[in-house]
Amino acid sequence: MTKEFKRYTITAALPYTNGPIHIGHLAGVYVPSDIYARYLRLQGHDVAFICGSDEHGVPITIKAKKEGVTPQDIVDKYHAIIKASFEEFGITFDNYSRTSAKIHHDTASGFFRTLYDNDKFIEEVTEQLYDAEANQFLADRFVIGTCPKCGNEESYGDQCENCGTSHNATDLINPKSAITGAIPTLKQTKHWFLPLDQYEDFLKEWILKNHKKDWKPNVYGQCKSWIDDGLRPRAVTRDLDWGIPVPVPGGEGKVLYVWFDAPIGYISATKEWAEREGKDWEPYWKDEGTKLVHFIGKDNIVFHCIIFPSMLKAEGSYILPENVPANEFLNLEGNKLSTSKNWAVWLPDYLQDFPNQQDVLRYALTANAPETKDNDFTWKDFQARNNNELVAIFGNFINRVVVLTNKYYDGIVPEAGDFTEVDQETLTALQAYPSVISSSIERYRFREAGQELMNIARLGNKYLADEEPWKIIKDDEARTKTIMFVALQIANALATLSEPFLPFTSAKLKTILSVTSSGLETSWNDVSLKTILLPSGHQIGKAELLFSKIEDEAIQKQIDKLLDSKKANEAANAVVDPQKEAITYEDFSKLDMRVGTILSAEKMPKTKKLLVLKVDTGIDVRTIVSGIAESFTAEEVVGKRVTVLVNLAPRALRGVESEGMILMTETPEGKLVFVNPDDANTKNGLSIS
Ligand code: MF3
Ligand code: ZN
Repeated sequence: MTKEFKRYTITAALPYTNGPIHIGHLAGVYVPSDIYARYLRLQGHDVAFICGSDEHGVPITIKAKKEGVTPQDIVDKYHAIIKASFEEFGITFDNYSRTSAKIHHDTASGFFRTLYDNDKFIEEVTEQLYDAEANQFLADRFVIGTCPKCGNEESYGDQCENCGTSHNATDLINPKSAITGAIPTLKQTKHWFLPLDQYEDFLKEWILKNHKKDWKPNVYGQCKSWIDDGLRPRAVTRDLDWGIPVPVPGGEGKVLYVWFDAPIGYISATKEWAEREGKDWEPYWKDEGTKLVHFIGKDNIVFHCIIFPSMLKAEGSYILPENVPANEFLNLEGNKLSTSKNWAVWLPDYLQDFPNQQDVLRYALTANAPETKDNDFTWKDFQARNNNELVAIFGNFINRVVVLTNKYYDGIVPEAGDFTEVDQETLTALQAYPSVISSSIERYRFREAGQELMNIARLGNKYLADEEPWKIIKDDEARTKTIMFVALQIANALATLSEPFLPFTSAKLKTILSVTSSGLETSWNDVSLKTILLPSGHQIGKAELLFSKIEDEAIQKQIDKLLDSKKANEAANAVVDPQKEAITYEDFSKLDMRVGTILSAEKMPKTKKLLVLKVDTGIDVRTIVSGIAESFTAEEVVGKRVTVLVNLAPRALRGVESEGMILMTETPEGKLVFVNPDDANTKNGLSIS
């Protein structure tokens, strides 16, 4: 029994304003939430789809410091870039706000005050991590250490990105300052804590009892594990200067924790929207008849399922989310997406290389969405989704219908005669699609929903291929009219049902079918209820290509771009080993080095690295096992003159006694080379360069 809701408040995670948006953000949060919001609107529901820039928090101050500008400069720059990307990709937020807005400062301060006035906080002086060198307290991303839960050595002070757990900075094992690298000391400071332990019973009842069935297993499972582990008070204020000032006595010089203020941003953005639209914001957050849904990535689960709901509960007048359909992560060509490593496809770059092809990316990301596990985006898959599905199935069907209608009937929808069994079956199958797709969308299975949409185009293609109007027209004009009539109904259903997924294509298709201008636009439910979606006598427009083939060169260009950023990264991260400890001349003089010649070489069986060499050292011919097989073949080393350390104590390697060592070194590019006694640079017999 699904509950009927009066209205919907749909939120999408507020992106941090420290860089542009990439495909991972789009796939994980913004495309699914936009599909959901568009779908609900098409169903005629009252929807507030809310987002905005998350402009506080440590990552922004770190970025500002790095670039030598103010945090405000950073957020102004990226707020504009991100907002433009969302618009360009057709993400239909009813409001895209920002947490630096006055309405947000007022709302978040007010929220904090209410909890403070109602004694919901513990006010306590505790010892916090402090970097004496930077003269600063270390919280959140200013401190890195080992996660007490999973052992990840790169956990941040407030959250471990590996296991998703949220903790206090003082819980980290071996903490280190991310600013100076110093080991922090402890220093006393006062903060306000939300006693999460007091909300355990509430959370157990709300999540573990009520949402086991309807929440995604990944979300439910994480929540259960945290609740089972026991919750502890969390500080919701920080000793920082970028953020919303703590609005109570003793709060001078302190700000709200970014994860306290950011989710309240959903509320402020709703207020801002309501004010603009002349609506009342409160029902969207306080009426039990409202369905509140948070779209997020998996690293945000703890904040949206444990901390924010506890805040809302503490405040007392708010509803709680019905669902938090968090996605897993999208990888790119086998590696984790990374802003700092520039391993990403940035939306502004994508649009530059693939102008007007927003729907292709939306489609490919939906088809490959990381809904139940991490998933990989590859350019080859992107190309295949475009060429084999959008072009070959969807585009091809529409093109055939529109071209033939123009060719046979000057673009006028023909009269249908009696339907055959196949016609009936096809139209019945078509009428079932709205509820099939609805059911997937309402269970947050957007991949499945997108595939069902494509199945409508498959249905159309199969119908045309079986009925062959281009042959039938030669001897049965009446039958051809019926076939084309049926095909046109499918085309119009596609125009309607594709809107949440492929909004640009849907609009274009509606123009081609001339339904927008003639008031023939059908609703989602019309597709199930009506047999005639496009009446006889209606004039459609000319064919236009909806999609075009993406060639191998375009794909190779993207792959090369990624390889370039990989190389740039490796170069930037290449570390030259520091010089080893000094040795005395006595130490050096113990080495007996001779010039030798490799007489023969053989790969040591069942190893990757080892060559077994016979070397003439001038004193004798001996066996030396050398770990160079990954850089040299046996054939190419035979005859080489080399430098041999002859008095190294013999040692057995894989059962072969090795008597000495061939001296090798590395070039600055990291290539292994022989220390060659005949090298032009070698003076006085030997130089180890
Ligand atoms: N800025 C956060 C991130 O990118 C998400 C904030 S969501 C909100 O991970 F709930 F706090 F708004
Ligand atoms: Zn962890």
